[in-house]
Formats: sequence, C-alpha cells, structure tokens
Amino acid sequence: MHLHKYEKMWMLIGGGALLIFLIMLGVGAFYQGTKPPSCLTTIDPQNVEAHDSFKKENLGMQQLDDNRYVVNVIASAFNYDFGTDEEGNVVRTIRIPVGSEVMFQGTSTDVVHGFELAGTNANMMLEPGYINTVETTFNKPGTYTFVCNEYCGTGHHYMTATVEVYDE
Ligand code: CUA
Repeated sequence: MHLHKYEKMWMLIGGGALLIFLIMLGVGAFYQGTKPPSCLTTIDPQNVEAHDSFKKENLGMQQLDDNRYVVNVIASAFNYDFGTDEEGNVVRTIRIPVGSEVMFQGTSTDVVHGFELAGTNANMMLEPGYINTVETTFNKPGTYTFVCNEYCGTGHHYMTATVEVYDE
C-alpha cells in the first residue's frame, strides 16, 4: 500500500495527539487522582434529619479545626436551609474568616437544585436522595452569592444565599 507523504504526516500528527491526550488522562487519573465526584452517599429525602449532618443543630457552619469548616445545607423549593443562629434567627449569610478551607455538604428534600458560589470553584447539584459535597478555599475577603443554577420551579430565581468572607 502506498501512502502519500502528507497522508503519513497527518497520520503521525493524529496518532501523536491521541497519544498525548491519553497520557494526560492517565497522569490525571492515576498520578493526580482526578475522578468524577462521587454520587454514592445516599439519604432518605423524606427524612433528611435522620442523618447527623442534617439535624437542625448541625445545619450551617461547623468548625473542624483552626481554618477548616463544614457547611451543611438542605435545599428545598425555594430556599437554602443553613439552620438558625444562637438567637434563633434564620441564617441567610454564612460568615467565614479569610483563608478558610470549607467543605459544603448538601442535599435536597424535593427536586434537583443547583448550588453555585459565584466567583469560586464551588458548584454542584443538590439532589434528593444524595449527599453531595464540594470544597473551596476562601483567599479573598468579600461577599459571595450562592445561586441555584438548576431550574426548580416558579421561585427558582429567588433561591440565593450569601457568604461573607471577612479579614480577622
Ligand atoms: Cu432551586 Cu432553582
């Protein structure tokens, strides 16, 4: 079989590009441990309070150590429930010291909701029946807004909350 010079060249380029992408994929998966987010943590959407993380007193921000926090949230149409503060007021704003590593952990009691913190890498779905998590580090003080980016009904566009990152 006779191959034209350019045909050979393009086959080499195509094969080479494929090889490079496969190597990148392999390094990402096996060396850097990149994997799709786990969807294996299940929960009964009718009874989320049965799970420790979503008991009333555990909603909102929990400190793990010096600069690590967990924020537990229950989404429902059309609200993010972060629990109440010491005075019993509904938490609408999560206040976090700058430099903190925060894991957001959430679920939904009705339909699929979005959980995107604009201006950060935190972006996930909150699905009934599953517990999803996303981690982010807040290096810049400021006000960040959560938006629901999954259409969930007529009040979808009202579904927001705020994170305030403050300098200590
Ligand atoms: Cu919740 Cu859109």
